[in-house]
Amino acid sequence: MGEISHHRKVHVLHALFPQSAPLDDSTESSDSITYWRKPLVDRLVARGYTDLAVLDVSSTALEIARRRLGDAAPVHWLHEDLLSWQPERRYALWHDRAVFHFLTDAAERAKYLTIMRQTLGDSGALIIATFASDGPERCSGLPVARYDAVDLERLLDGFTVVESSREEHVTPGGTVQPFTWIAATREGAQASS
Ligand SMILES: C[S@@+](CC[C@H](N)C(=O)[O-])C[C@H]1O[C@@H](n2cnc3c(N)ncnc32)[C@H](O)[C@@H]1O
Repeated sequence: MGEISHHRKVHVLHALFPQSAPLDDSTESSDSITYWRKPLVDRLVARGYTDLAVLDVSSTALEIARRRLGDAAPVHWLHEDLLSWQPERRYALWHDRAVFHFLTDAAERAKYLTIMRQTLGDSGALIIATFASDGPERCSGLPVARYDAVDLERLLDGFTVVESSREEHVTPGGTVQPFTWIAATREGAQASS
């Protein structure tokens, strides 16, 4: 996603937030629940975005996503440990679902936030989702830190929160996992078309 105005950024953030209302699943339009259940990168590709990157420390996770989307998908696949990644360019939007909550060490959290800020520069936007404070204590067998929106907001000095919400995510096995979602833009972002 290239340069976009603050107004457009807020619109995009709203549009990308998880939808909780049960919607007709008979189509693949952006009004369908199957559409909303898809990973964000799938939805962005479907919407015609072409400047996309997916980063994961797991080559298996990347391979699954790459196979799902196909080799022609306009996505840069970055096989990196986020905590040692050095972004070579800026991105307009940072999206993290269920990664930040693995960082139970304060130094790692600080590193993550520094890298996130470097990646966004002065005018980016972010969406982060973690397990909520009453969510599971472990994810993929690993301990996690859990957050409510106010906890996440405290970590986002210099950002303006656009939206936050709680999602009662139901796993394929029927387990309910409460998530906290937060969307924010960098304060002082200038309108630019
Ligand atoms: C629970 S999964 C979430 C995957 C996806 N975001 C979703 O919402 O379904 C967590 C992912 O974070 C990745 N991950 C964990 N720590 C990471 C790190 N330090 N750098 C990059 N990826 C990491 C894991 O490999 C895994 O694919």
